[in-house]
Amino acid sequence: MKNIKITRKITQGMYVLTTKEGGCIVDAVSQVSSGEEPFIAVAVMKSNYTNELLKKNNKFAISILSQDVNAEIIRTFGFNTGRKINKFRNIETTKVKEIDVIKDSIGYIVCEIVDTIENDTHTLFIGKAIEADIFEEKDPMSYGYYQEHKEELLKVTTKKGKTAWICSVCGYIYYGEELPENFECPICKVGREYFKKQ
Ligand SMILES: Cc1cc2nc3c(=O)[nH]c(=O)nc-3n(C[C@H](O)[C@H](O)[C@H](O)COP(=O)(O)O)c2cc1C
Repeated sequence: MKNIKITRKITQGMYVLTTKEGGCIVDAVSQVSSGEEPFIAVAVMKSNYTNELLKKNNKFAISILSQDVNAEIIRTFGFNTGRKINKFRNIETTKVKEIDVIKDSIGYIVCEIVDTIENDTHTLFIGKAIEADIFEEKDPMSYGYYQEHKEELLKVTTKKGKTAWICSVCGYIYYGEELPENFECPICKVGREYFKKQ
């Protein structure tokens, strides 16, 4: 191949993929047919817990994120695994066809899985849309926009001169030299091992 980096020029978006009991951030989503019940394909890494859950379930939802989405959603679903935390504890969702969709999104598509294709690293889940709606007309966040703005998007501002411990899941800040023993995040309830000193 002369230059595989050309694939980075394929426009992708930013989505929360959810299924029963879990989900993760994905950019690898495509609409692969049109009509009343279009087919939607999503590629999910085999190492992701969401992949395991999708294989036990027959439905998934794609919630489409806007440029002004709360960064906590990206942190929670994109940088943590459902093997260790409950990602829905602190994020507002609403159930559609038994699947949680993200309220702070432009809208959603719920699909029934009709086929899968495997390669070494990913499973491509192909779904047929069975429900879809728009919550709010806003500019969708593209993957390119996320890459360009991720530092400011995910930045947590702390008070100058103070030692801060930041929860890597929800961004809660604890001020103090050391975290108390058995400390638990008051917001998302994860343990002290999820806190990073700044
Ligand atoms: C911007 C961004 C894009 C991502 N795109 C994908 C993707 O297309 N497919 C995928 O499987 N994981 C993708 N991930 C990684 C998963 O969201 C991440 O590994 C997540 O923690 C997996 O959680 P889980 O173990 O609960 O499934 C992306 C993460 C980020 C931050």
